[in-house]
Amino acid sequence: MFHLDLIRQFQNLKTPFFFYDLNTLNQTIEVIREYGMSRGYSIHFALKANNNDRILKRILDAGFGADCVSGGEIEKSIEAGFSPDQIAFAGVGKSDEEILTGLKYNLFSFNCESVQELEVLNHFAGQQNKNVRIALRVNPDVEAKTHKYITTGLQDNKFGIPSENLPGVLDKIKEYPHLNLTGLHFHIGSQIMNLDVFRELSVKINQLQSLFDEKENQLRHINVGGGLGIDYAEPDRAAIPDFQNYFRLFEEHLDLRDYQELHFELGRSVVGQCGSLITKVLFTKEGRNTNFAVVDAGMTELIRPALYQARHTVEALTSTRPEKQYDVVGPICETSDTFRTGILLPEVERGDLLAIRSCGAYGQVMSSDYNLRERAKAYYTDDFDLE
Ligand code: LLP
Repeated sequence: MFHLDLIRQFQNLKTPFFFYDLNTLNQTIEVIREYGMSRGYSIHFALKANNNDRILKRILDAGFGADCVSGGEIEKSIEAGFSPDQIAFAGVGKSDEEILTGLKYNLFSFNCESVQELEVLNHFAGQQNKNVRIALRVNPDVEAKTHKYITTGLQDNKFGIPSENLPGVLDKIKEYPHLNLTGLHFHIGSQIMNLDVFRELSVKINQLQSLFDEKENQLRHINVGGGLGIDYAEPDRAAIPDFQNYFRLFEEHLDLRDYQELHFELGRSVVGQCGSLITKVLFTKEGRNTNFAVVDAGMTELIRPALYQARHTVEALTSTRPEKQYDVVGPICETSDTFRTGILLPEVERGDLLAIRSCGAYGQVMSSDYNLRERAKAYYTDDFDLE
């Protein structure tokens, strides 16, 4: 991914910084269009994964909608040019202010997660004499086989309405004249590598759909959320996730009615592999059992290893020396501020550059100024002079 020319130009920039390869992003988007949109599926990009203007512009131009989880994300997506009727508003805890922000626009749908939320939304919509399109987020109790912190579809998770409560909620909705039920929403987790779980989800949705065949409600859309994982271990070999099989699974296993649209909320799989965090080695030192490479990026720029024990590939950009074993650690005063332990890298010295790969999703957006650190900048392929 990194040509010598590019690395030479990296050496003039203040580190750490995020680097986004727009070619990888474009190629990923093309594959989503080829296997997903061409089947008539609607894709909402989950802004929570990355909300940089230049990234959003590419995604918008490709015809994606947006998936927002806060008032801030709604305003951001409107500013970026997404059409309100392609914006889904999800979230287990929408504040009154955020509900009012959502109501300003005629959104594709509010994805609602509890009866109390329905009641509050109906109240605010009524005050403004508006009708709101809603989808019910259902907790299907399907195991996503991913890290427990990003598993969302199990019965003990805080998300969604338990599927067994759905009939009762459907009766209750009749009391809310300002809500127009248009769909069902699901999201069982993130960084899902075992595609089989999407088949299980489809089967579960098929069972739930029969509830609606008996009622007068016609659901115009099914939203299966996001969750498709990326290959953190081999970011170059598998730069583009397996969208072909992912979309095919839904086509084969989900029984859509002929009047129904299928929607997705993809985040990580769209942008994960296009971003890297470029960092400089500040110091090297020998520990008792390993060598430390202390770099200038920390959990402030990339919290995923500290929070989810994520292992991002680390690449030495400016060293071709023989390999040594390293723990690659940040400067923050916490032992969790460790990117990798016991990995082999070409021997590095003070000043060498490293790339921490697969940071396009949930990297920059989750960064903080803990320790009063300055926020890292972002650069894009077309900021550089390349042959
Ligand atoms: N839809 C809903 C309702 C969601 O909660 C999420 C992600 C998505 C869509 C997008 O999921 P994706 O396609 O990106 O898997 N910070 C964590 C990931 C948190 C995911 C939260 N929800 C991480 O760095 O792994």
